[in-house]
Amino acid sequence: MKYRRLGVDGPEVSAIGLGCMGMSIAYGTPDEEESQRTLDRALETGITLLDTADAYGQGANEELVGRWLRRHAHERDRMVVATKFGLRHDAATGRVDAVDTSADYVPLACRASLRRLGTTHIDLYYVHRRDPGTPVEETVGAMSRLVEAGLVRHIGLSEVSPATLRTAHAVHPISAVQVEYSLFTRGVVEGELLATCRELGVAVVAYCPLGRGMLTGALSSRDELAPQDNRRRWPRFADENLPHNLALVRAVRDVAERIGCSPAQAALAWLLAEGDDIVPIPGTKRRRYLEENAAAVALSLTEADRELLRQAVPEEAVAGDRYPEQALKRLGH
Ligand SMILES: NC(=O)c1ccc[n+]([C@@H]2O[C@H](COP(=O)([O-])OP(=O)(O)OC[C@H]3O[C@@H](n4cnc5c(N)ncnc54)[C@H](OP(=O)(O)O)[C@@H]3O)[C@@H](O)[C@H]2O)c1
Repeated sequence: MKYRRLGVDGPEVSAIGLGCMGMSIAYGTPDEEESQRTLDRALETGITLLDTADAYGQGANEELVGRWLRRHAHERDRMVVATKFGLRHDAATGRVDAVDTSADYVPLACRASLRRLGTTHIDLYYVHRRDPGTPVEETVGAMSRLVEAGLVRHIGLSEVSPATLRTAHAVHPISAVQVEYSLFTRGVVEGELLATCRELGVAVVAYCPLGRGMLTGALSSRDELAPQDNRRRWPRFADENLPHNLALVRAVRDVAERIGCSPAQAALAWLLAEGDDIVPIPGTKRRRYLEENAAAVALSLTEADRELLRQAVPEEAVAGDRYPEQALKRLGH
């Protein structure tokens, strides 16, 4: 494993982290036993960054990570546990129905996450989505008091605008911005957001680096998705868009074959090569995928490989938005 620092004063983390969301929600049937083994394998592989959020399964994913942390209490200091707050659920439907980043809510959310994770501190605490009605100074001010109290070590933001990042960073150093970034979703990061991160010394944690599994080439039809799989509602997996997007993935596969790796590894190695300040967090609940993904750190792509991968997926060629309409409205504030 290789390691990278998140931001100027942030934690050192494995160059590839582990996204834990899919262990509880989103991608098919959860499998607690295999998920726990996948977390074990992450530790053995040298992966130190675990990514979860209070919103994933309304706390269920933090509880799953918490069960693992309790089994590995002696390894706690090696791990960088990242979680997020801000998305609230309607109790009856289980759907996200509000964004709350008020100063009153911040300590309540943090204490609830600490309880579920069974830990005394959160290494990296992110604002999951920003409520545009709450000044970010108020939110980050409340988070900085959690740092002073020793409950949180570092602060991050997810899916924010460059202006929000700048304002937040003036209140308290921001270690990382978490944002969707992959061969399939480049425009959000590349440009002003990445330039602002670099100017301020803030790392980019790239979520959905495999395009929610699309870029791995493992999926060939929507029929393969379980009925409860969220991707059935995701525009890029819709019947009218999927065949087109899968043709782009075949082009990625061709370049990966030339390089001598899998499409997932090519997608991750491409992100890693974009800068030492970028840390992808591919999600999986299976040891076999985790091992495949972790091995991407050993690949060094040539300039020509990187350009071929970009050309394989011209960004404007991807069909469908990256989120359903309602969720899109919560991005970039
Ligand atoms: N900040 C935010 O708003 C936000 C939003 C979404 C996600 N996230 C975080 O980012 C993490 C990563 O994103 P993600 O999990 O949504 O998407 P992703 O990493 O792009 O893709 C995950 C999907 O790819 C599959 N997969 C992983 N490695 C594979 C391989 N080598 N071969 C074949 N299939 C493979 C997984 O399958 P299995 O499930 O079967 O293992 C899962 O279905 C999440 O876990 C979460 O922690 C953050």
